[in-house]
Amino acid sequence: MASGEDSQIGRKIIEYKLATADELAICKQRLKEQQESGRRLKLADVLLEGGYITRSQLERLTKSLDDDSMYRPAQQIPGFQILGKLGQGAMATVFKAKQLSLDRIVAIKVLPKRLSENPEFVDRFYREGRAAARLNHANIVQAIDVGEAGGYHYFVMEFIDGDTVYDRLSDNRRFEEKNAINIVLQVARALAHAHSRGFIHRDVKPKNVMITKDGQVKLADMGLAREVNDYETATAEAGRAYGTPYYISPEQIRGEINIDFRADIYSLGATFYHMVTGKVPFDGPTPSAVMHKHLKEPLVPPDHLNTSLSAGIGEIIEVMMAKKREDRYATTTELIDDLEAISQGGAPFQARKKYDQSMLKSIADTGEMVSIPTAEDLSPTPPNTTNWTAILMLAAFLGLSVLLNLAQCVMSGK
Ligand SMILES: Nc1ncnc2c1ncn2[C@@H]1O[C@H](COP(=O)(O)OP(=O)(O)O)[C@@H](O)[C@H]1O
Ligand SMILES: [Mg+2]
Repeated sequence: MASGEDSQIGRKIIEYKLATADELAICKQRLKEQQESGRRLKLADVLLEGGYITRSQLERLTKSLDDDSMYRPAQQIPGFQILGKLGQGAMATVFKAKQLSLDRIVAIKVLPKRLSENPEFVDRFYREGRAAARLNHANIVQAIDVGEAGGYHYFVMEFIDGDTVYDRLSDNRRFEEKNAINIVLQVARALAHAHSRGFIHRDVKPKNVMITKDGQVKLADMGLAREVNDYETATAEAGRAYGTPYYISPEQIRGEINIDFRADIYSLGATFYHMVTGKVPFDGPTPSAVMHKHLKEPLVPPDHLNTSLSAGIGEIIEVMMAKKREDRYATTTELIDDLEAISQGGAPFQARKKYDQSMLKSIADTGEMVSIPTAEDLSPTPPNTTNWTAILMLAAFLGLSVLLNLAQCVMSGK
C-alpha cells in the first residue's frame, strides 16, 4: 500500500515531469515487491535507486510538499492567488498574494486554526480589522480586508516591498542618528493619526516598522487584534523564539486594562533606543528577567552607550520610556514637536518641560530638595521652617523654569 507521502511524491514527480506515468508505475511495482520481501522502503528510495531523480531533486520535492501543506489554508482564500511566504510571526503567517479582481499585489496574514475556536478573539479580530481598514495614512500599512475561508481567518493588507527595522538591526548594528530620527518621526506621525482616532497599536517594535525601497516608513499590524493579553503574548513570543519582550511597556506587563497611547510611546522609545545604541534597553536571560527590568531597573541613558549621540535624543528617549506613563509625553503631537525640533538641530522643549515638571512634582511630593547648607541650616531650626524653605525654593524653581522656557521660545522664534 502506498503511503500518503508516497502518493504525494508520485504526484509531484509527474507534475515536474521527472518521470513518465509508465516509469512511475514501474517504480511503484518495484516498491511493492521490495516491501513484500520485507524491506522498509519508500517510493523516494526506489526513485533514487533507479536513477529517476537525484538527491537534490528529492530535497526540492520534499520542500515543495512542505510548502504546499503550509500554503493550503491561504490557497483556499477566494479571489487571491498565493505567490509565496513573506514571513512568520508569533501569531500568524504572512503571504504575498495577487488580488485577482484588482490585479494588484497584497500581503495576507493567515491566522492559525486554533484562533478561530475562540469566538471572543474572532469577534475582536473582525471588529478591529474593519475599523483599521478605515484608517488611512501614508505611514501606516493600509488594511484592506478581513475574512474567513475554510475555517481560517485572514487579514488582507497593503504589500510592502522593503524590509523592517529589525532586519537592519541584526548583528548589533545601529542606525545613524539622523536616519533614526527620521524613521521614528514617521512612526510617530502614524501613531498620532491612529491615536487621534482612538486606536492604540500595543505592539510597536522593530519588526513592525517596515521601510519601503524608496525610504518611506510604514507601521504594520495597526488595529490587528492580539491573541491573548500583552504579558502572555510577550512570554509566548519569547518561548517560540520569535522575539523577547524588549519593547513592552510596564503597564502592559502589569496587565493593566486601560492601556492608552502612552504604551505606544514607551514601545517606540524602546525601539528608538535600540536603533541609536544598537542594544535593547533591557536585556536578560529570560523574558521574565527582561520584563522585571522594564518595571524596576533605571534606564542606562542612551548617550552612555553611544557617546556620539546628541543630547536631545537622549532626553527624548528618556521621557518616552519613563516608567510611569504620567511622566511620558502628554500627547503624541508633543513627541512629534520634539522630534522635528531635533531633526532641525534644535532642542527638545517638550521633553525639557516634562523633565522640569516631574522634578517639581517630586519636590512637591517629598517636600525636600538637595540644597547647599547655609549658616541657618546648620543652626537648630523649628521643624516647619524647613517646609518654608522648600516652598520658597519650589516657587523660585518654578519661576526660573517658566523664564527659561520663555527665553528658549523667544530665541527659537516660536
Ligand atoms: N504588509 C506586509 N508586506 C510585506 N511583508 C510583511 C507585511 N506584513 C508582515 N510582513 C513580513 O512578515 C513578517 C511576519 O509578520 P507578523 O506575522 O506581523 O509577525 P511579527 O510582526 O511578529 O514579525 C514580518 O516580519 C515581515 O517581514
Ligand atoms: Mg507584524
